[in-house]
Amino acid sequence: MKSKAAALRCAVLSGAIVMGLCTWAGMAAAQATTRPWNDTTLSPDARAKLLLAQLTQDEKFQLIRSYYGGPDRPANVPFPKGALASAGYVPPIDRLGIPALEESDAGLGVASSDRMRPGDHATPLPAGPVTAATWDPQVAYRGGAMIGSEAHSKGFNVLLAGGVNLTREPRNGRNFEYAGEDPLLAGTIVAEAIKGIQDQHVISTIKHFALNDQETNRNAINVQIGEQAMRESDLLAFEIAIERGKPASVMCSYNKLNGDWACENDYLMNQVLKRDWKYPGFVMSDWGGAHSAAKAVNAGLDQESAGEVFDKEVYFDAPLRAALAKGEVKQSRIDDMVQRILRSMFAVGVFQYPAGKAPIDAQANLKVSRETLESGAVLLRNEHDTLPLDVTRLQSVAVIGAHADKGVLAGGGSSLVTAMGGNAVPGIAPTTWPGPVMYHPYAPLKALRDAAPKANVQFAEGNDIAAAAALAAKSQVAVVFVQKWQAESVDAPDLSLPDNQDALVEAVAKANPHTVVVLENSGPVAMPWLDQVGAVLETWYPGGDGGKAIANLLTGKVNPSGRLPVTWPRDLSQPPRKDIPGATGGTPPESVDYAIEGANVGYRWYQAKGIKPLFPFGYGLSYTQFKHDGLKVDAHGNQLQATVNVSNTGARAGADVAQVYVHVPGAKSARLAGYAKVFLKPGEHRTLTIPLEPRLLADFDVAKHGWVIRGGQYSVSEGPSSEDLGSPVSVQLPAGKL
Ligand code: BGC
Repeated sequence: MKSKAAALRCAVLSGAIVMGLCTWAGMAAAQATTRPWNDTTLSPDARAKLLLAQLTQDEKFQLIRSYYGGPDRPANVPFPKGALASAGYVPPIDRLGIPALEESDAGLGVASSDRMRPGDHATPLPAGPVTAATWDPQVAYRGGAMIGSEAHSKGFNVLLAGGVNLTREPRNGRNFEYAGEDPLLAGTIVAEAIKGIQDQHVISTIKHFALNDQETNRNAINVQIGEQAMRESDLLAFEIAIERGKPASVMCSYNKLNGDWACENDYLMNQVLKRDWKYPGFVMSDWGGAHSAAKAVNAGLDQESAGEVFDKEVYFDAPLRAALAKGEVKQSRIDDMVQRILRSMFAVGVFQYPAGKAPIDAQANLKVSRETLESGAVLLRNEHDTLPLDVTRLQSVAVIGAHADKGVLAGGGSSLVTAMGGNAVPGIAPTTWPGPVMYHPYAPLKALRDAAPKANVQFAEGNDIAAAAALAAKSQVAVVFVQKWQAESVDAPDLSLPDNQDALVEAVAKANPHTVVVLENSGPVAMPWLDQVGAVLETWYPGGDGGKAIANLLTGKVNPSGRLPVTWPRDLSQPPRKDIPGATGGTPPESVDYAIEGANVGYRWYQAKGIKPLFPFGYGLSYTQFKHDGLKVDAHGNQLQATVNVSNTGARAGADVAQVYVHVPGAKSARLAGYAKVFLKPGEHRTLTIPLEPRLLADFDVAKHGWVIRGGQYSVSEGPSSEDLGSPVSVQLPAGKL
């Protein structure tokens, strides 16, 4: 179907009339003289250069701005003809065969499907931290490829996907879109998701560049942080994801950084991204993130997004033309902007593999989503082997709370996907932005009934705590689902669970000693009842087929192997900031001070301060046991490679993650420098070889403008979490620049 659509377009584009003979190769050959930029033997840069030379000034200006395609628009702004209803649209230039850019959110699937395009649905992936918690780049790739293929089959050739903002702030409303707190883990996982998307010929847009790590006052907040600290933390996550994943575009963020808007920040876009990292793609603004013409363009912004709806004015039209006329912007820069956009389109195959309507294998895609959760859910607690539930002996189960009879919760905002079957619990406020509150229709209750057909599995809503406790009391096991809805544009004021859910868990746990809690949340929550329950399974927002994944995990069909990509604080006295001023109302301050923790994001902060969190970064339990031993470290100059043995010493098959941390001389906290996930049968053992990322052994030296290994005794340790490490191995490294 896809190739049929491509062939049809081919006939139209090339003017070929011989039906059935027109392939892309044939068309490219036929057009080699008329459209030499279609010659796929040339580099994307060379092709873009050839095409750029053909464009009129108006056509260039057409490519450097997009239009909003959503239905929620001011009455006086017409809907852009040709746009699929979605976040962004750049019209085609038919004269030269340049396809439109059809842009859809986002990292968890083709978003807002039904809200934007009534009747349309897509497969939701679990929340971003689930993918990060897999510590498995292949799972991330498969998720990216799945959402990329759905986007392509719906006619989209741009996904605004690849969120890699670090979890500096456990209350950040968008943590569920990101990949945790560590630059190596987040960077490598997001890189694979990007590769997966772009292998489907869909441009991936890594975002939000940069330091947009809280939502409160996101459109005005000035983030303050030093250069070394940001290079070693948030920017390192971007650097790794960009160099490995090669996203064709980057989205600059809403906030200011050290006084300048991110989307007119010369340091971020020109100096770091384009000069130091040699980034060849284009930077698009976040929706409402552009603030000027000349300043933004000269600082490196290449495309203004949906300015007619979101910016004060469309800067990249009349104001930019005026700036050009006055000499404030050079024509060569306008050409560079267009070159970058076209180059990205060629690099990803947007011309060669046109997006268009094609069938979607919904079952296969749901499997990708389910397997992501099965690989990323984290077993936080399992006293006296409360889990797995033995379905052969299970007689009765009380399933309680969180609408587990209907579905699984999703996070709110632009990343929200409407799954097939729509919202399982419609009408919960807020029903408009950043809502609706959405439950994907993959009910854990039904999945548990299917998994334990001999058991009497009953449901209590949980609003009536006494009724829930009574059901728990007469059941063999109680599984309580607790939830915390979070959404783009709002941070949580604290870590608490809403709606009296703590009292619910406490009452159920009192009524039944075999109580299991399943968490559906965006980031860490307070669990005052933790010591009273038998087991806790963290699923973040579970995504497509989430109910079945949860049932498989609880019943042991799948052995949990997720490891936390974030530190779980005991309470709000532990993270760098005790509160987010303005999160609960009132006027927020103009700036936020990220210099407090600097590069010590997450576990590095806790280690540097000697604070013991509730659960450390990298932590997670299994239904089997593993032994790690025999750590060796080989050094070849500045390149370190660790080898370590991991054995499954328990009775079940399962997976563990070998995590290698480095202490650079004098540092108070360790840095994750390499990792590998391994699947082992009972009794099996493997020797893993793990290359260590050299930038994690180095410091970013601002004066020398680069990564510098200080030299000396480096201590390398390995273990199943950041706080459970074996004996360190000491390595002498020479000083030097990377
Ligand atoms: C978000 C972006 C999103 C864009 C388009 C913005 O509000 O910050 O992540 O891609 O909207 O929907």
